[in-house]
Amino acid sequence: MDCPFTKFNVIWQKALENSTLIQKSAACISTIDADGFPQSRYVDLKSADNNGFIFCTYLDSNKGHEIQHNPKVSLTIWWDHIGKQIRVVGEAEQISEQSATEFWHTRSRDAQLTTTSFNQSQALSCESELDTRFELIKQKMQGHEIPKPDNWGGYVIIPLSIEFLTFKESRLHLRELYQSKNEQWQKSLLQP
Ligand SMILES: Cc1cc2nc3c(=O)[nH]c(=O)nc-3n(C[C@H](O)[C@H](O)[C@H](O)COP(=O)(O)O)c2cc1C
Repeated sequence: MDCPFTKFNVIWQKALENSTLIQKSAACISTIDADGFPQSRYVDLKSADNNGFIFCTYLDSNKGHEIQHNPKVSLTIWWDHIGKQIRVVGEAEQISEQSATEFWHTRSRDAQLTTTSFNQSQALSCESELDTRFELIKQKMQGHEIPKPDNWGGYVIIPLSIEFLTFKESRLHLRELYQSKNEQWQKSLLQP
């Protein structure tokens, strides 16, 4: 049985090499809100290995609260230039503080400043507040390393299923479904 994580990484690498996109690793994460509605948004996929799919965010954002309430999530990617759709369904768990700190250090200074300046998903009084809050923190932190805020971290999505769709113009898509059963992957094909 081929490993879906290896398969994912081969496809991801191919997607990165041939991509003209600026945000090359955007993935759509769906959570379930308190009223039972799905909520979807893009995040930057950080890594994918046998442990799962990692993204970083504010732990107290809307998505953070939704995951705390219901860890069942999905991740969806469409890479148009190589004709691949990938759908992951699983449960999200918070990554360790140490891993989160490592990811924090890979971020640009501007991204660190933005994260430090705002409370994600809270109301903003007006557009100009974006610049004023950012500039305030920028001045304050000049010459200092920016520490990771306690409310910023990441989640690993531990998959129960991963589906790879190879798009065909004829709509004769190849759909390969991997399902985790008793810690083993089982592969099946689905009609297009
Ligand atoms: C291409 C792209 C990448 C993004 N990457 C992230 C990310 O890695 N982490 C994050 O918290 N938000 C990211 N965002 C913003 C989210 O889409 C979203 O607006 C934000 O996380 C708030 O979502 P929430 O209110 O549902 O928690 C990204 C947006 C786009 C368009």
